[in-house]
Amino acid sequence: MGGRRRASEHPCLVVCPPGLEDLVVEELLALGARPERTGRGSVSVGLTTRLLYAANLFLRCATRVLVRIDRFTVRSFADLERRITAIDWSPWLPEDTVPRFRVTTRHSRLWHDGAVAERFSIAFATGSGQAGSRSGHETVRGDEGTGPLVVVRAVDDRFVVSVDASGPPLHERGWRQAIAKAPLRESVAAGLLASAGWDPSSPLVDPMCGSGTIAIEAALLAAGVPAAADRDLALRAWPSFEPGTWASVSADARLLQVEAPVPDGSDSPRIVAADRDAGAIEAARSNAERAGVADRIEFRVAPVSNLEPPTGIASRGVPGLLATNPPWGGRVGGGDLRNLYATLGNVAVQRLSGWEIGLLVADRSLARQVRTGLGERLHLELGGRSAHWLVGRLSS
Ligand SMILES: C[S@@+](CC[C@H](N)C(=O)[O-])C[C@H]1O[C@@H](n2cnc3c(N)ncnc32)[C@H](O)[C@@H]1O
Repeated sequence: MGGRRRASEHPCLVVCPPGLEDLVVEELLALGARPERTGRGSVSVGLTTRLLYAANLFLRCATRVLVRIDRFTVRSFADLERRITAIDWSPWLPEDTVPRFRVTTRHSRLWHDGAVAERFSIAFATGSGQAGSRSGHETVRGDEGTGPLVVVRAVDDRFVVSVDASGPPLHERGWRQAIAKAPLRESVAAGLLASAGWDPSSPLVDPMCGSGTIAIEAALLAAGVPAAADRDLALRAWPSFEPGTWASVSADARLLQVEAPVPDGSDSPRIVAADRDAGAIEAARSNAERAGVADRIEFRVAPVSNLEPPTGIASRGVPGLLATNPPWGGRVGGGDLRNLYATLGNVAVQRLSGWEIGLLVADRSLARQVRTGLGERLHLELGGRSAHWLVGRLSS
């Protein structure tokens, strides 16, 4: 990992779904940053202002980027209040905003998260001269509301105060408004594609696509659309926001779009999103339209037994990736899942020989029904359940 942090770099923490840390490291390296270390669901990294903007715009596997603005050790509320009033919030928080303080403490003398958050609210209002303009009751706020987010973490009495640069989580790209059963986070779908090594110029099929998350993320990747292209980011409201730097980072994003290969008429589209549920396909199609990539995806209402490669690809035998998140049993209703997984394995081997297959499953023994050697690429926590992203090659 990276060496010493430069003075011009902001100390940052990139938060991500646990299991995607190594992919975030790769994404940061690709941007030219030097990640320092990973923790569970986070990557520490120093970012220049330019890289901070780029990270928010381009990272596909991240949830948010936090900028550390202060750190101190305190063991009493009086000392805590003194430290809070001494913080220079002016570069980070727009005037007259009331931030939300999200506090977690561990092994600390000041252990009551709510009481610490309350001190932050009051001392912030005092330090920024807002106390007189609000009633005491109004200034005491926790993590609810819509104001800018400030994250406070204390471990062994050592406090770290960070401002959120992203706003709503980065996986909320904005296009997924229609939801089918048990949808994946967009950041997780991006992580599946990256860890399977999918080449955006090769075909992709998701035969159980639900709301289309995997196929749409794939199409956006192939089109070179940055992850946060249509998003408003919290950092753009900061008093220290640099419009010139942002314009230059956005120009890089447009360059990426221009450089992305547009599928030629004969091969387009090379991505298939199929599901036996017509409602799911309707949701997937309207999401893809909002994302601006509906013309890159072939939608099919079909059971998995009708699995086929993209139209026009079959005769040329171009290998691609079958990437899917089949029902797990717990969240998406019953049926005979063993048969479903076995059918998937049989038709995939017959019709997509030479392709890679990636399955996101909760139960590894169910995945054995597919009868193809599968290796674990990612181990994730999704909705409180352990999930495995298993990848292998289909050969008859
Ligand atoms: C867990 S959901 C997929 C969620 C999706 N990854 C998303 O982000 O929205 C599983 C999907 O498999 C579909 N499905 C179940 N059995 C099927 C079958 N035999 N053929 C095709 N699709 C099936 C369901 O309709 C459901 O949409």
